[in-house]
Amino acid sequence: MKKFKIAVIAGDGIGPEVIAEGKKVLSGIAALDGTFAVEFTDFPWGCEYYLKTGEMMPEDGLDTLKAFDAIYLGAVGYPGVPDNVSLGQLLLKIRRGFDEYVNLRPVKLLEGAPCPLAGVKREDIDMVVIRENSEGEYADVGARLYPGTPQEIALQTGVFSRKGCERIMRYAYELARREHKTLTSISKGNALGYSMVFWDEIFAELGKEYPDVKTQKLLVDAASMMFVKNPKRFEVVVTSNLFGDILTDLGAAIAGGMGLAAGANLNPERKYPSMFEPIHGSAPDIAGKGIANPLASIWSVSQMLDFFGKEDWGKRVLAAIETLLVEKKTLTPDLGGTAKTQDIGEAILEILRR
Ligand code: NAI
Ligand code: MG
Repeated sequence: MKKFKIAVIAGDGIGPEVIAEGKKVLSGIAALDGTFAVEFTDFPWGCEYYLKTGEMMPEDGLDTLKAFDAIYLGAVGYPGVPDNVSLGQLLLKIRRGFDEYVNLRPVKLLEGAPCPLAGVKREDIDMVVIRENSEGEYADVGARLYPGTPQEIALQTGVFSRKGCERIMRYAYELARREHKTLTSISKGNALGYSMVFWDEIFAELGKEYPDVKTQKLLVDAASMMFVKNPKRFEVVVTSNLFGDILTDLGAAIAGGMGLAAGANLNPERKYPSMFEPIHGSAPDIAGKGIANPLASIWSVSQMLDFFGKEDWGKRVLAAIETLLVEKKTLTPDLGGTAKTQDIGEAILEILRR
């Protein structure tokens, strides 16, 4: 029997609370299916670990993780540890170290999910944002000069390589081709005359290999307006690291909120493990209260199942989340319910068993 080995980094704040529910769902599915098994190995890495040891994860952390089929991550970051340390030494280290250059974020409005936009139907918001995840504006390149003086200077450099742009765009073109969807590239060539002009050129060049894919090109400021005014025009979206980060939070807001937004960090070549996570943070304001919404983490389980080639289960998990939202019996307070975090995993399994 195939056994999927999953490294679990539950992390900080509500991370462990929401991850526990995702684990319940995944174990429950393996039991229902009967043809595959899952094995979780928990790693206590994160801010508490940092306060004890001075590092977010051990020096050889990546070597340890290499042996797994996937990484399931909650959230990292907590007051007392600078966010650039917690994010940089764990999350970004894994994304870069394992060449997880595709950040795949579904922005899909499920039936029953709250939507702040007026007059929007379920099928109007159904896109997938492909965010470049390895370089761009988040490449760790820069300098601080003349610190502490009135002449102080900070430099932060964007890194856009031909290889990096091509591979993320190719991934998006292939997805659009496979699913017969339109592809929108979001950039900012009018103001960023080097990096984004380069991006636009490569997008157009590659397009010649995909004459069957209908494309459009938007500036990021116009695109953010369109996300709100006319989300229906987006199907597959490809964009840079920074723009994707911002646009997917906006996407989360229009499609049910942070409690419902998941993201996969993929190494498509499968040379290294891919990482699955809710896109929200550690939510220190509600940590420990048992009220965090674990549906984003459970949606990540759906993405993981897709990546494992178990797309049927991936679809069923998403459908179960939708049923839960429509029935409104077992929802956490952010979705207007009174259920506890720990009730949700079992409620999803109960729907899956029907
Ligand atoms: P956040 O996502 O943790 O919280 C923003 C707001 O959304 C809060 O009011 C929170 O209560 C609410 N919220 C988030 N997830 C929720 C859920 N599952 N159910 C119900 N409500 C939820 O973002 P914030 O406050 O900016 O960051 C807190 C910490 O998390 C920081 O240290 C930050 O660096 C870190 N962070 C980590 C990320 C990661 O590990 N991928 C991503 C974003 C932030
Ligand atoms: Mg973000």
